[in-house]
Amino acid sequence: PVPAYESRTIALVGLMGAGKSTVGRRLAEKLGRQFFDSDHEIEKAAGLSVADIFAMHGEADFRRGEQKVLERLLGEAPHVLATGGGAYMNEETRALLREKAVTIWLNADLETLWRRVQKKNTRPLLKRPDAKAVLQNLFTEREPIYAQADLVVHSKEGPHGSTVNAILKAL
Ligand code: S3P
Repeated sequence: PVPAYESRTIALVGLMGAGKSTVGRRLAEKLGRQFFDSDHEIEKAAGLSVADIFAMHGEADFRRGEQKVLERLLGEAPHVLATGGGAYMNEETRALLREKAVTIWLNADLETLWRRVQKKNTRPLLKRPDAKAVLQNLFTEREPIYAQADLVVHSKEGPHGSTVNAILKAL
């Protein structure tokens, strides 16, 4: 059963390009809640962009920061939270998210994800010539783990408004 969302944070998980930040912000507006984006919170705490954290400190440091930020956010009043695509892969973070939040996997097909991530080439994991293959691998690798979320909502091509409505209906 899906935990009642009224007293919980609603956390969006899923791959880069799924629309977690855009959908999350609109969902928060509709619910009259605060919106947090874990990537943005990490950037604020570090005073660096995600790309610069990866470049200067490496992915492992980024993951440690990500976990800390999520621990802090999950201690705050119920809100809507967009997590970075890799956050749910960390076992401790996943356990904490499942304890404190209603988790929603924003799923999309590979072509949709690929089209969206190309618009804004800011993701350090995709700054390479074989980026599409990398995304495809992450998709295959992570799908069974994202599928452990409380709810699955498909983010289709086109405007994000229908995805927001699908979440509101599913909650
Ligand atoms: C990552 C996803 C990114 C960001 C970082 C790593 C991942 O967040 O946290 O580049 O491992 O999937 P978005 O999913 O918001 O793009």
